[in-house]
Amino acid sequence: MCGIIGYAGKAGAEEFLLQGLKRLEYRGYDSAGIAVLDENEIQVVKCQGTLEKLEKRLRQERARGYLGIGHTRWATHGVPSDTNSHPHQDCQERFALVHNGIIENYQTLKADLKSAGHSFCSETDTEVLVHLLEEIHQGEMVTALRELQNRLVGSYALAVVDNREPDKIYALRQESPLVIGLGEEENYLASDMPALLNATSKFHILEDGDLAVLSENDISIFSSEGKEVKADIFQADWDDEMVQKQGYDHFMLKEIYEQPTVARRLLSAYLEPDRVNLPELTEIWDDEIDRVLITACGTAYYSGLAGRHILEELANLPVEVEIASELRYKKNFLDDKSLLLVVSQSGETADTLAALKLGKNSGSRVLALTNTIGSSIAREADAVIDLKAGPEIAVASTKAYLAMLTAFYLTGIKLAGLRATLPERELHSYRQELLKLPEKITAALDRVEESSRKAADYLKDYNSMFYIGRNLDYSLALEGALKLKEISFLHAEAYPAGELKHGTLALVEEGVPVMAIFTRRGLVSKTLSNVKEVKARGGKVIAIATAGTVEDKAEFDKFIELPACNELWAGVLTVLPLQLLAYHTAHRLGCSIDKPRNLAKSVTVE
Ligand code: F6R
Repeated sequence: MCGIIGYAGKAGAEEFLLQGLKRLEYRGYDSAGIAVLDENEIQVVKCQGTLEKLEKRLRQERARGYLGIGHTRWATHGVPSDTNSHPHQDCQERFALVHNGIIENYQTLKADLKSAGHSFCSETDTEVLVHLLEEIHQGEMVTALRELQNRLVGSYALAVVDNREPDKIYALRQESPLVIGLGEEENYLASDMPALLNATSKFHILEDGDLAVLSENDISIFSSEGKEVKADIFQADWDDEMVQKQGYDHFMLKEIYEQPTVARRLLSAYLEPDRVNLPELTEIWDDEIDRVLITACGTAYYSGLAGRHILEELANLPVEVEIASELRYKKNFLDDKSLLLVVSQSGETADTLAALKLGKNSGSRVLALTNTIGSSIAREADAVIDLKAGPEIAVASTKAYLAMLTAFYLTGIKLAGLRATLPERELHSYRQELLKLPEKITAALDRVEESSRKAADYLKDYNSMFYIGRNLDYSLALEGALKLKEISFLHAEAYPAGELKHGTLALVEEGVPVMAIFTRRGLVSKTLSNVKEVKARGGKVIAIATAGTVEDKAEFDKFIELPACNELWAGVLTVLPLQLLAYHTAHRLGCSIDKPRNLAKSVTVE
């Protein structure tokens, strides 16, 4: 979703802002713009479309200066257009402002401002902010921004510059992320850390309600109560190399092949031969807890569906999984006997954050599985597992999903220990097997590369297909279908294998591809019967199975075999051909793989 960048320093702001916006591209956008201060003049260049288009405009209408702000817009209020692009300006063009989030009361504010004589040129909620600032600014920006804050309902991260203070960027944060980066005689602002990793690894993350003032040599931060807050600077363990393609054609492919490293990093942080090292979970655990509830959106939600089977089997607890945007509206669902597991790669998904807050207000203990330490979700939760996947740039999530599953394995073993549901001997053998997972992932990637390519050659010619599986395999089917949909734009539906015959089989005819997943030995014969139903109607079956799981392969048109693996951990292997299948199909269809249409990486609006 929208991205914000800011620069105050000695180098050319224009180039820094443009490069920063390129680094924010992965969040999804449809327009972009920058405002640069040259002495006391604000130059705004903005347009609908790509950053290449903005770059061309910048060559014609140069915006030079040493301080500025930039923005990538993902349209919510008003179509993508030049006028709706940020930065927005007030009537006198004294201020320029960029914003991420949604101002819920913008219509009332706009009506009042119009009556007071302000004229608007865009349909955005953002433009209201800059006119309101013009209305209330009485000579002192911090006071004016506090007053602005009091009048707003909604979520926002905003940055504003004033032509009478050409050495300062002001920023406000409320429920939309904003980080400050610290450099040598320069300081930066951005929606997320990857945007600034080329310049610094030193960050301060703004809290809700914070107001920040940045200049070349200084940063000041004020809490919502108006008190000056000392910057809590930390060194990120992400580096610039991690946000480069490193020779791969796409970030998605790079991230798929990075998965053995991700699993190794995560396991070495939390797993020792004789214990799962999760002291924060031990601390919040209470024997009174009698259920686990997992909540998330999209791919993270599908990891939760897989996680349910893992936790139920290992920790013998009832586990429910609820989509975050639905959980928010449930009443009396969570209580102080629930452990709420919140899963989010970005740590900023608005619906997931709202579900977390609901859980906390209901007295539940909250464990977050997130890839972004310092994110809102990480800060609100009682305990955190850092997924350690490194920055994920492709919009379609791959390595974060694998890290989520691996974190569920760790949580399952830990809860089994806390609840004494399994003998130590058994837990020990689970831990030993888990330590071998990274090697298995490497072996699996080698083994399925070719067969996934071949299967993609077939899929590309069909615009509709199905994914089936039972139990854990159904949750993997859901993730496989989502990956294909989001990057190849083909229609793919996942079904519990036994459910196909209750209606959807009507759509299976000659040649229709059906992906069947087999990782659970006890369920093979049942899913094979569903495969036969597909074959009887002319469907083409592409089967994915771990070695030794299926003996009778007669009905399969294509077979993707994974290395043998303990059934409980098979999810992380099975997802690999599903990801590769989606990638190669999208590649053959010439799709924009890393930035698929209509999607955003960090969904900070509800
Ligand atoms: C799909 C995908 C999305 C996200 C979802 C939640 O590949 O990436 O479905 O999983 O938007 O995002 P996070 O995990 O950041 O909360």
